[in-house]
Amino acid sequence: MKKELSQNFDYCLLDDAITHKKLKFNYKKNKEQDHTELLDASANRFDYEQCKDSYWNPEKFSLLYGTPLWEQASQSERIILNQLYWVAYYSQIISAEIATIFFNQTAAAGLYGIEDFRIACETLDFESMQERAHIDAFKKISEEVELKLFGERIFTYPMRPYYYETMIFQNTNAIKKFWKRLQLQAYSVLSSGNAFIACQYLTVRGLRTLNGKIIQHQLSEFYSSLSEEERLKAPVPSAVSYYHFMDESYHFNSSNIIGTDLLKLLKTPTSFEKNIANLGIKGTLKDHSNFSTMVNGIFWYDPATFQAAYRVMRSKIFNFSHAEAIEMLEKCFCKENNGIHESFKTHQVALESYRNYLSGIDYLDEYALRGGKMNETSIEKYLIQNTNELNKFKKKAA
Ligand SMILES: [Fe+2]
Ligand SMILES: [Fe+2]
Repeated sequence: MKKELSQNFDYCLLDDAITHKKLKFNYKKNKEQDHTELLDASANRFDYEQCKDSYWNPEKFSLLYGTPLWEQASQSERIILNQLYWVAYYSQIISAEIATIFFNQTAAAGLYGIEDFRIACETLDFESMQERAHIDAFKKISEEVELKLFGERIFTYPMRPYYYETMIFQNTNAIKKFWKRLQLQAYSVLSSGNAFIACQYLTVRGLRTLNGKIIQHQLSEFYSSLSEEERLKAPVPSAVSYYHFMDESYHFNSSNIIGTDLLKLLKTPTSFEKNIANLGIKGTLKDHSNFSTMVNGIFWYDPATFQAAYRVMRSKIFNFSHAEAIEMLEKCFCKENNGIHESFKTHQVALESYRNYLSGIDYLDEYALRGGKMNETSIEKYLIQNTNELNKFKKKAA
């Protein structure tokens, strides 16, 4: 801070000693405890044969948990549904983290142009490096599992650019995909040249990961609750969940410090900046407006998952005939069951925590503060939408 010299901006990060200290401490701790090497080593030693007979997550974190498929599944089938939850969940995380890496970089570019923000930029650079290791570990394990179980992809996908839909199962089509791409590309240009939008990206990132934090904490406990000796024999994917959550806990902190404390340092946003910020938050609320019975805790559009569920049921694991698989899809997605109620509950808990998180943000409009499109979700609408879409699916699959 060189007050005697002329400055481009009338604020510096060093003016706010507490925020600067918090950021420095979080970055230092993350570097000290970095799990990159452990994640790389875990991915390299992963061998499905060695952990194919055990649960990798707490039982309720299983594919289609609480649905008629789960209720009638044998013990060995339940183990596979539990493992497939891991594959599906972390395939979704890969998609989110591909976008995170890019937007961390554009936000860092936007922030480096102002005084003393180097520490914020280095935090983001370091996190991007960690995300690449996270993606590698999730990808290697998930692809090996799908290859062994199905001989083809079900939830995984080849690497792709950041501008794809973040939700891997989304209510979309070619036009919507193109529009989304334009929006994300425009946001990247704006955030790389505007400190407010760069900082505000971290508010969006914090919001997007609120529910993930709750789920990933529980996934990580499966390993962290074990003794030292038990950990040596634990399934590799459970260890990966734990190492990942350890890294991510620092990312959650930096989202809050940059997206909340640091943002307050900047001057009041212009109406253009406010508009972009509102669009970013409302886009997240829209992305999270669905709830998924397929994977409780992920806000997928379930009709987009019918094909994946159908293929799991028709595979050698369940051995369903075509008619049996269609009937089971109907029971799981179109008729009320425990799985649907549990997933809707997760959605409502998320909505409540999103509202709390947003309540202190003064540039947001009423619609966003109330939870945007997430507010319009209900079990009734979900069942009608799934029934209509399953009818279309049946015709295509016939
Ligand atoms: Fe990550
Ligand atoms: Fe992260």
